[in-house]
Amino acid sequence: MTKIYAHRGAMGTHPENTMPAFKAALDAGVDGLEVDVHMTSDGHLVVIHDEYVEEKTDGQGLVRDMTLAELRTLSAGVRYKDFEAYEEAWDKETVPTLEEVLDLADHQDIELNIELKTNKVLYEGIEEKVDAMVSAYSIEHKVIYSSFHLPTLIRMKTINPNARIAWLSKKVPGIIYDYINTLKLDALHLSYKAVLKKVERINHTEDKVRVWTVNDADSAKQFFELGVEAIMTDFPREMIQAREEY
Ligand code: G3P
Ligand code: CA
Repeated sequence: MTKIYAHRGAMGTHPENTMPAFKAALDAGVDGLEVDVHMTSDGHLVVIHDEYVEEKTDGQGLVRDMTLAELRTLSAGVRYKDFEAYEEAWDKETVPTLEEVLDLADHQDIELNIELKTNKVLYEGIEEKVDAMVSAYSIEHKVIYSSFHLPTLIRMKTINPNARIAWLSKKVPGIIYDYINTLKLDALHLSYKAVLKKVERINHTEDKVRVWTVNDADSAKQFFELGVEAIMTDFPREMIQAREEY
């Protein structure tokens, strides 16, 4: 059965990459959470989508130039007042640390897709730090690392041969199994629109393909039919319902 992962939490209804979004996704009954990870100037792993905080918070500047204490003064929930589920408490919501998300995932029967956002800014040593933290929780079997930046994935596998790695790509490679075998990938995480245009390319590798970001039931059902490993969605509750109806 195709799994359903909450993309940046339930970001269609809650402030993305925040604890309320992850909790809402768990309440909906997801099979996995997708989280984006950056690193602060004092080496803390934090869950936020962009390298610039102004994209998602009320602050300004690069995550890598801020200490965790500085980052924690910003609101990660203040920009979502037009959401139907908006609560005043969101205004005080801060950027979570990866540790806080691991604490949440630790007690749940779910997978965790940790996307390392290393394709735009250099975070030296981020792979070692993430591996050490995940290993300390003994949840490697529940974690899939992904990145658009292949060197990060190669480094993860070098640091820990048991790390599961998935390459993120906006295009569907011509010969998927060659990428999987040669780069020792566990999966490819592909843009769903690209997959639908070149659907024949994923033949026989469906169990190694996860697609993002599927937000309508009709597209989701196409992927349930194809039997891909997982879809990632901003609206987990709706996609779980679509799977029940499929
Ligand atoms: O993992 C799939 C997806 O999250 C990659 O794109 O920009 O949403 O992080 P983005
Ligand atoms: Ca992501």
